[in-house]
Amino acid sequence: MSLNGRWEFKLWSGPAEAPADVMRRDVDVDWDKLEVPGHWVLQGHDRPRYTNTAFPFPIDPPRTPDANPTGDHRRWFDLPDDWPRDGAVLRFEGVDSCFKVWLNGTEVGAAKGSRLPSEFDVGDLLEPGRNLLVVRVHQWSSGSYLEDQDMWWLPGIFRDVTLLSRPLIGDVFVHADYDHLTGAGTVRVDVEPSSAQITIPELGLELRSAETVTIPRVEPWTAEVPRLYDAQVAVDGETVELRIGFRTVAMTDGLLTVNGQPLFFRGVNRHEHDERRGRAITVEAMRQDLVLMKQHNLNAVRTAHYPPHPAFLDLCDELGLWVIDECDIETHGFIYTDWRGNPADDPDWAPMMLDRMRRMVERDKNHPSVIVWSLANESHRGRNFGMLAEWTRERDPGRAVFYERDRSYEFSDFYSLMYTPLEDLEAIGTRTEDVPPETEDDPELETRRRGLPFLLAEYAHAMGNGPGGLADYQRILERYPRLQGGFVWEWIDHGLLLPGATDHVYGGDFGERVHGANFCIDGLLFPDRTPSPGLAEYKKVIEPVRITGPDPLTIHNLRTFASLDDLEFVWSEEVDGEEVDAGRLEVPEVQAGSTADLRSPVEMHAPVRRRVDVAPDGERWLTVRAVLAKDEAWAAAGHEVAWAQFRLDGGSAEDRRGAPSPAQPERVVPGGVQPERAVASVVQEQVVPGGGGERIVSGGGGERIVLGVGEFERSTGRLVRLGGIEVDGPELDLWRAPTDNDCGQGGRNGVVGEWRAAGLDRLLHRVDRVEVGERELLVQTRVAPDGLGAGVRATYRWTLHDALRLTVDVEPEGEWSGMAVTPRCGSWPRVGVRMVVPSNLDTVRWFGGGPGEAYADSREAARVGRYTSTVDDLQTPYVVPQENGSRIDVRWAELTDAQGNGLRVEGAPHFQLTARRWTTEDLERARHRSDLTPRDHVYLNLDLAQNGLGSASCGPPATPQHTLEPGPYTFTLTFHQFGRSPEHAVGRSDA
Ligand code: GAL
Repeated sequence: MSLNGRWEFKLWSGPAEAPADVMRRDVDVDWDKLEVPGHWVLQGHDRPRYTNTAFPFPIDPPRTPDANPTGDHRRWFDLPDDWPRDGAVLRFEGVDSCFKVWLNGTEVGAAKGSRLPSEFDVGDLLEPGRNLLVVRVHQWSSGSYLEDQDMWWLPGIFRDVTLLSRPLIGDVFVHADYDHLTGAGTVRVDVEPSSAQITIPELGLELRSAETVTIPRVEPWTAEVPRLYDAQVAVDGETVELRIGFRTVAMTDGLLTVNGQPLFFRGVNRHEHDERRGRAITVEAMRQDLVLMKQHNLNAVRTAHYPPHPAFLDLCDELGLWVIDECDIETHGFIYTDWRGNPADDPDWAPMMLDRMRRMVERDKNHPSVIVWSLANESHRGRNFGMLAEWTRERDPGRAVFYERDRSYEFSDFYSLMYTPLEDLEAIGTRTEDVPPETEDDPELETRRRGLPFLLAEYAHAMGNGPGGLADYQRILERYPRLQGGFVWEWIDHGLLLPGATDHVYGGDFGERVHGANFCIDGLLFPDRTPSPGLAEYKKVIEPVRITGPDPLTIHNLRTFASLDDLEFVWSEEVDGEEVDAGRLEVPEVQAGSTADLRSPVEMHAPVRRRVDVAPDGERWLTVRAVLAKDEAWAAAGHEVAWAQFRLDGGSAEDRRGAPSPAQPERVVPGGVQPERAVASVVQEQVVPGGGGERIVSGGGGERIVLGVGEFERSTGRLVRLGGIEVDGPELDLWRAPTDNDCGQGGRNGVVGEWRAAGLDRLLHRVDRVEVGERELLVQTRVAPDGLGAGVRATYRWTLHDALRLTVDVEPEGEWSGMAVTPRCGSWPRVGVRMVVPSNLDTVRWFGGGPGEAYADSREAARVGRYTSTVDDLQTPYVVPQENGSRIDVRWAELTDAQGNGLRVEGAPHFQLTARRWTTEDLERARHRSDLTPRDHVYLNLDLAQNGLGSASCGPPATPQHTLEPGPYTFTLTFHQFGRSPEHAVGRSDA
């Protein structure tokens, strides 16, 4: 019987204030109402609080502060007449952090362990008819010292409360193995009492407790094909339903194997979070999480950093995910005492820690999806972990044991680190990593450690815009067998939407003195569960089928167990983004781990004859996609699993998409392209007949220069009109609104410090020369910050062809690296121009990378095509506003108004496009999304390149390959205005 629902509730500031007689029916309390499961701080009582590592109270274990918010909860319920008294159990799935229970005025007991179940025998206390259940919850307890995970502190009865009738069956433990050599399954179910009968109808099996039966052929359970068999455990008077999955977990030859095969985790760390409900997450949201994980090619989840709601594991069994189930232990805040008093190393705390481990293992031991037990997160070294590991191995020899933070790995079956730089990962892959100090003096322990497989427990910190570098990680992870995969940090942003609010809150939004700011806004999903660009990128990078080619086309099955029979392969040929032909590929059976070669469905370099209206010299692409052939529990037929694109017209190799990232655009070596030479070549080109040369007009803004559709201010050389469109000319831009990853962690690794020191956020433009020539305009400028000597020379060369062409030369001047005044500035945020156009140009079409945002080191998911969007939809709604929305490899883009008038920009060859209704400076200032107010213009950035993203908010910055170094650059953009004649065309921004 569920006891969820609307309870009576009263919050006290501390235990001293709370009434001693709360358990009495007639207690004098002015009760409020509260939804259970739920956190009171999210229902208008007190406030949530976020810290990353710090305890929000003085560290004095096991004591708690007097100001210990105490919530009295009570609920009346009617006991059905036929409710059996024997074996009545009151079960709480999760109460944060410590609680005491009274039933009908009598104390039943108390418990701690927030993310663990507690059961109380209540048979003697139940009364016929109305019963009164009272629960007093304290926010802080000794348990809080073990619950210092990086997340919101959210007190309350946040998981289900149930009254169960559990008269007879004490325990059930299923052991179901699979022999991959013979295909046989072995099953044994240990039951208390041993008189129980077990039936597995589908296998026609009936067995007794502890009896071992071998079935000559079963279908195994794997995350790829999660085959479950229903079973019942019965004694006279009670039946328990089970779902059995046959699978064998083993550590074999230094690797974690299941059913004889080494696993490879494409994983994620998942906290339980709902933007309104906190950790009182619904089953629908859990299912949504898993469906999204499956749809994005994830195959593993680490339940960071506590056992999840039990229904989540049912869903993992059903949909197929490998699970590392983590115990509810983290003592991270002892970092501030230099680990003095760390419970993990104090025998007094051993029983409490062991209690947590037991409660997790006993609760979750019958889930085939759970293959690894994790002892804790970030709790340093401690003897107690030895005891936990020992007990766990003894109780459940059928699974592996994991703990990352004891760098001797004495108690762990895995070697593991977090946020490991690529070079270190590579060294680990080849077993040439440095010896950790913890095993330096213990050769035996070191030999053991070096023999362990490696799990990247956390990496690719998905905070704000990012992570960058997923593809680089994946390449290394896939290369070395010792590396059994990784788990991105983390699944979902922990932004909270408080009643009536429109902005998500994070640490510091309540004026707290100690808080973790937005460090918990670091997920692949936004708080409302919308996938972020980071998730799209991860999906592409970890696709379980890789397609290389184009001739032959090779299909690589990267799965561990399953063939590709569930997939269908389709192809299309596009010219300049328009489909000209399409079909299905006949793919033979491809077993897990093997490949198949196919002939390309189209001819390379062949002229396109199928349609007459495509440009004969257009870009010709082949797109191959692997899609689900039929509906699965987590996606419908047609869902795309993997894809690749190949350029067919002999275009640059860089245009082979779906394969490893190309490097940054080529730098022009100093002294390479000289303005004079550029002019010379331009002059030789043919000028469109009728194109205007120089013409002087006078108007409101002083003298103007007209060059084709371009109208420039004579004194500054700034473009002010393009045909009928008022613009504010392109000018050099090196700045971007810093991302969380640009900022780094506590000043470490971040690049923003050096960017600001170099004055990139306050560049001033000075016009040195405006030179009007025959069909061209040359504007020389110097761009530099006040107070510093270094700057750049920016030369804008406008020439008239069939359209207006701009070539920008960027030449650094002075010391950009290693300079005395400014510390070394090793990168620039971007190299490009910014430009202001009217706000009604709000439809954006482009040919290039899309549909989503992409950056140098996060661009695998961008495929070449034609896309249409709006300025508003180009924005990525990061909870904390920052650089976002850039589209990569853009060949051309058009911005149009409702009537179809507008302008077109072409890149030579490509550019990165950003369009928004606010400036970079607005974006930088904003701390929440509502701080961004649309202005009356659209602000464009047309970039040659941007710096990579990296994941320095907790990890390494962008690699050198993806770093945009200060240096000389040249790029060209061509502008067209189209639509009605200038007089009638798009007018002022306020038109
Ligand atoms: C890890 C930790 C996580 C989280 C992450 C950064 O060290 O285990 O809980 O804090 O860093 O977001």
